[in-house]
Amino acid sequence: MDDIIYVPVVVHVVWNSANPVENISDAQIESQIDVIYKDFRALNDEFADIQANIWPQAGDTKIEYYLAQIDPDGNPTNGITRKETNVAAWGTDDSIKFSAQGGTDAWDPLRYFNFWVGNIGGGILGYATFPASAGDPDDGIVMSPQFFGSSDYEAAAGETFFLDDTYDLGRTTTHEIGHYFNLRHIWGDGGCGVDDFVDDTPSSDSPNYPCAGARPVKCGTDDMFENYMDYSDDACMGLFTQGQIDRMRAVFEPGGPREVLNQ
Ligand code: ARG
Ligand code: ZN
Ligand code: CA
Repeated sequence: MDDIIYVPVVVHVVWNSANPVENISDAQIESQIDVIYKDFRALNDEFADIQANIWPQAGDTKIEYYLAQIDPDGNPTNGITRKETNVAAWGTDDSIKFSAQGGTDAWDPLRYFNFWVGNIGGGILGYATFPASAGDPDDGIVMSPQFFGSSDYEAAAGETFFLDDTYDLGRTTTHEIGHYFNLRHIWGDGGCGVDDFVDDTPSSDSPNYPCAGARPVKCGTDDMFENYMDYSDDACMGLFTQGQIDRMRAVFEPGGPREVLNQ
């Protein structure tokens, strides 16, 4: 299976009336969709140099994202829902994902990739479900609005974006999507013996942040701080490896947990 996989996305903006900047613009949302398009198609600015000079196993996932054009009732949509609430911070208890708890219900999670954008709080940028949650009402990613979108696009859009100073290039969403498609952190969340279940990522025992200076050596080998599944600043990331790509694409195989998401 080497064809392009097409993934429809719905973005649920859930904003606090006391902080209307959380009701981010369509342009900010579109900037995020463009970042994940580029990052997953190896069209990001960093990619060619990384692949040619540093990590030849860097690859093109051939997974593409688009804002949904038909809603679950069969009506035309721009793929964005908006809800005003009085919730200042949602935490990570998933209440943002349920109308009955003040949030917004998922669209059919087998057929749409649900993104919720609302203030999580507690310094958390975003979080994701893994493929084990495929089809569940909580399946998808949650992103705080100040980390959703890219400041590279502000001038072109001619609008004010609501973005953080450091995590402002849309890479948190790239990272969370990696989890949603079954990727672990590149250091395996443990010591040198702990694996991320990917053969062509180097063994590592800890995340890198903000940006690594000189190339870190961990577990006796050069560390891959440019990997989207590390914790580096957005500006220092730029690749998935072929092994990570194979692991992500496996969830779309016939009988795989996210097979019908490819539309
Ligand atoms: N800490 C978050 C997580 O583990 C996301 C980290 C994203 N890093 C970034 N440079 N945007 O899911
Ligand atoms: Zn993570
Ligand atoms: Ca590995």
